[in-house]
Amino acid sequence: MPAKIISGIETAKAIREEIAAEVVSLKQLHGLNPGLVTILVGQDPASESYVAAKNKTAHALGIHSEQVTLPSETSEAELLQIVSEYNSNPAIHGILVQLPLPRHINEANVLFAIDPAKDVDGFHPVNVGKMMLGEQCFLPCTPNGILELLQRSGIETAGAEVVVVGRSNIVGKPIANLMLQKRPGGNATVTVCHTRTKDVDYHTRRADILIVAAGVAKMIKADQIKEGAVIIDVGVNRIGQAASGKAILAGDVDFADVVTKASAITPVPGGVGPMTITMLMKNTLQAAKQAAGIG
Ligand code: GUN
Repeated sequence: MPAKIISGIETAKAIREEIAAEVVSLKQLHGLNPGLVTILVGQDPASESYVAAKNKTAHALGIHSEQVTLPSETSEAELLQIVSEYNSNPAIHGILVQLPLPRHINEANVLFAIDPAKDVDGFHPVNVGKMMLGEQCFLPCTPNGILELLQRSGIETAGAEVVVVGRSNIVGKPIANLMLQKRPGGNATVTVCHTRTKDVDYHTRRADILIVAAGVAKMIKADQIKEGAVIIDVGVNRIGQAASGKAILAGDVDFADVVTKASAITPVPGGVGPMTITMLMKNTLQAAKQAAGIG
């Protein structure tokens, strides 16, 4: 039987409706207008499309959003100055600097400069540390979106063998950490594979839940997964261009190969991607409420 398709579009829609309703009531009851700024340096086409999607979603949910687009020659000092201005701008509750940054800019310096109370990406070391300890904080959007998808799809994580392929700061490390915590969507036994793992297939074949965030198109085939596994595909790889000019996307998992063996799978596009953006909106709402002392 083909796998159940875990639709990020459907799940994100339900959460976005909840957020939009809360934005309306915040405006009506408290005169509070949540605000987000996205900062993009350079002209990476993938980053441009992610940032455009983030702003479009913010507008659709009634969240004030500003987009700052800077040339790739922007210096680190100039970028830090812009971050500093938004740190003290009361109309902006969330600051997102799109990654990756051009090579001449030190990513850590920029992420550390964002006020942790406005760090809606959850990348500041204060928030990373709190996440690790299981304290209340902004959770990084993609891992948080994966947790929501699993939970809202009724997938049991307690006691599950979870294998994560990829050890990035944005996805691999935080999702592994969150899923081993004693929390809803956690309590799993987690293994993380990376480029120096001796036998990746040995691990992926043991996984009840396989999360792939490696950035390699269609790298996971049916013979690398267990019968009935749940597959979460975080990859977004541009493998061509349609006649319309639109990019053709593929995940890190060979969907067509795996779909008859897995029990559930997230598609690309339409799986994890919409959840990442939705969690960003949720964090922006939370940041606005915290700034106003609400909730
Ligand atoms: N680049 C890829 N994913 C992300 C993300 O979640 N946040 C930011 N800021 N940059 C990214």
